[in-house]
Amino acid sequence: MIILGIETSCDETSAALVEETGDAARPWRIRSNVVASQVAIHREWGGVVPELSARQHVRDICGVVERAMADGGSPAIDAVAVTQGPGLVGSLLVGLSFAKSLAWARGVPLIPVHHLAGHIESLVLEGGEMPLPAVVLVVSGGHTSLYRIIAPGSYDLLGRTRDDAAGEAYDKVAKLLHLGYPGGPVIDRLARDGNDRAVPFPKMRLTHADRNAPHLPGRRDFSFSGLKTAVRRHVTARRAETGLTSGDPLSPRETADICASFQRVVVETLLDRVFDAASWYQAQAVGIAGGVSANSRLRSDAAARGGSKGIPVFVPGLALSTDNAAMIAAAGLRRFRQGVGAPVEINAEASLAL
Ligand code: KG4
Ligand code: ZN
Repeated sequence: MIILGIETSCDETSAALVEETGDAARPWRIRSNVVASQVAIHREWGGVVPELSARQHVRDICGVVERAMADGGSPAIDAVAVTQGPGLVGSLLVGLSFAKSLAWARGVPLIPVHHLAGHIESLVLEGGEMPLPAVVLVVSGGHTSLYRIIAPGSYDLLGRTRDDAAGEAYDKVAKLLHLGYPGGPVIDRLARDGNDRAVPFPKMRLTHADRNAPHLPGRRDFSFSGLKTAVRRHVTARRAETGLTSGDPLSPRETADICASFQRVVVETLLDRVFDAASWYQAQAVGIAGGVSANSRLRSDAAARGGSKGIPVFVPGLALSTDNAAMIAAAGLRRFRQGVGAPVEINAEASLAL
């Protein structure tokens, strides 16, 4: 079986062909995965502009799907999987409408996919089935959510951010430091030369409820707005002390130290929660997916913690960590095998529960 995946929830137009292998350990194989990024367009505005995103998807979708089909050997497809939500509604509608038309024209089923299920299944797509139960963190520009997986394809929400997503915090701190958009990759790079103890930014604290009822959903939430505010206060104070205006960058040394100190707190906050949940639920594996899983420190610290606890850690390769359609096709194959198909009337959902 070969499935075409389509993803347009945010600022990447992507199409991919994924096929079943028949091998239980490695159920899926990528035949093609084409991603047209809109980053250059949104960079000018310091973040994703929904209207521009939707219009660019309209321009790119035909060419991206044609290339994914050609790269994958132009096979007959058995189904079309598409991101139904969550995401920018105008952007989602481009991919969804295209997928509906194609599925109808080819007479194959249409399979709606939750964007975060795609990120979770990117782990299986590359690493093979995870030993279960597993605890998986999806951490991106729009989401920071922790799930427990007891059975393949079923995801229990353990907690999520109460304010900013971790990637959003990276992007906002980068903006504050005049480092451009998106902020994650540049902060990751600059932090390598910084002292991660230079600035004692506050770490998110466990609340009473967290300590008293660690097994309850909602007790494993995240919060990054306090950290972001602390970075802003620190940068404003340092600019004042050194006679700089808000338009001036701090020195490269000081910028690197702020990046490293900020990144240490983000990574520790994320991994404390992940490994705390993993031991509570006796997880056999930990997974970290989504754009921020590309972060070098998050990857190395997660591997080190997993190693010391004897828990295997799954992360996608860099190409599958940010938004792509191969992960949507993989999640679509899983749903198809579970008997999920959709009527042609389905709509895009900006906020969709998993
Ligand atoms: O998954 P993704 O491509 O899109 C969403 O669904 O949001 O994630 C994009 C986010 C951005 O906030 C970006 O700054 C962040 O992932 N990101 C990183 C790194 N690479 C991308 N954050 C930290 N370190 C990185 N190396
Ligand atoms: Zn994403």
